[in-house]
Amino acid sequence: MPWVIRDVVNDINKAVAQRWQSLDPLLPRPSDLPEGCMPPLLVTGDNSRPSGLGVCRHQYVAADTLAQTWGAATKLVLSMRLRGPDVAAAADDLITQWRTHLVGQQQAYADDTAAVVNWPSRDVTGVPAILRHGLQPLTVIAVRPKARPANVGTAQPEGLVIRPAGPDDLDAVAELELGVVRYDAHFGGSIPRPATEALVRAETQAALAKRPGWTWLAEQDGQPVALTVVEPPAAATWIADMTRTGATAYLQTMFVRPDERSGGIGAALVRHVHGELDARGIDLTLLHYSQVNPLSAPFWHRMGYRPLWSTWEARPAATLR
Ligand SMILES: CC(C)(COP(=O)(O)OP(=O)(O)OC[C@H]1O[C@@H](n2cnc3c(N)ncnc32)[C@H](O)[C@@H]1OP(=O)(O)O)[C@@H](O)C(=O)NCCC(=O)NCCS
Repeated sequence: MPWVIRDVVNDINKAVAQRWQSLDPLLPRPSDLPEGCMPPLLVTGDNSRPSGLGVCRHQYVAADTLAQTWGAATKLVLSMRLRGPDVAAAADDLITQWRTHLVGQQQAYADDTAAVVNWPSRDVTGVPAILRHGLQPLTVIAVRPKARPANVGTAQPEGLVIRPAGPDDLDAVAELELGVVRYDAHFGGSIPRPATEALVRAETQAALAKRPGWTWLAEQDGQPVALTVVEPPAAATWIADMTRTGATAYLQTMFVRPDERSGGIGAALVRHVHGELDARGIDLTLLHYSQVNPLSAPFWHRMGYRPLWSTWEARPAATLR
């Protein structure tokens, strides 16, 4: 990046750091901007000083990774840094420039593509501009700081046994994992692929072989009825920089069998897992849920999570307005 741009990035990042911290103390300090597909897009304020910038990245998600089950195969991602105070106007300007870039890209017209913006959930002033460009709020990254209590009763459903899962549980865990993929497909959160089943099984097998384990099952009458899977900090580095520094885990999977729901099994299992995470020194736990999943959003909020980032998408990418 040329030094002039680097100076602008540093200057804007300093202002953005202050703005983010005042909006939400669980947001990170803005990282250096990633290398984009072209020089950063700039927005200039009244005094001709840059008031914001955006970087577009083209991400090609490999078919042999589970990441492709959790979104479009090609993601055109805009990272925005806006100094304010007129965040809406600056966001509008940047997205307009970004759209001009995207509609000139043939790949943006393919079905399996998405134009993606990650936006701090509490930075509400930018939302009208994002909406105006036809982006949809698909998913939320939610956060729970260590020891934040849940807002549900503490009674354990009768006969429920919660235990760490091991290699012998492969079939049950893989099947419950696939339950989440299938359920989330209703909301565009997941896109089941031909390779999904095999990839889930392989990933599950690897996770269950590790000690200590980070996968827990709840059983009724000896039958697995619910599953929680967590990525420990060493495996969660891909998302840890979305929140402030600290030992950060990622709660990857939560599923209760349909005929066992609404009786407190999910709450009991998550309460147990939170106890483990707090004891293992986890400071922050992140997870994704689909914005319109009618079961997960209220559940996570009761369990002590709240929105940190909202992911907005236009699919295919060229449908960005
Ligand atoms: C989200 C999900 C895991 C919640 O599991 P659950 O076992 O139904 O959750 P709980 O029973 O603990 O809490 C849900 C309900 O039970 C109630 N409840 C909680 N603790 C209770 C208790 N001790 N006794 C009786 N009821 C209780 C809650 O008030 C809530 O009521 P509601 O269904 O009327 O809203 C489950 O619905 C699910 O698997 N959904 C599909 C997959 C999914 O969305 N996963 C999350 C992806 S991010």
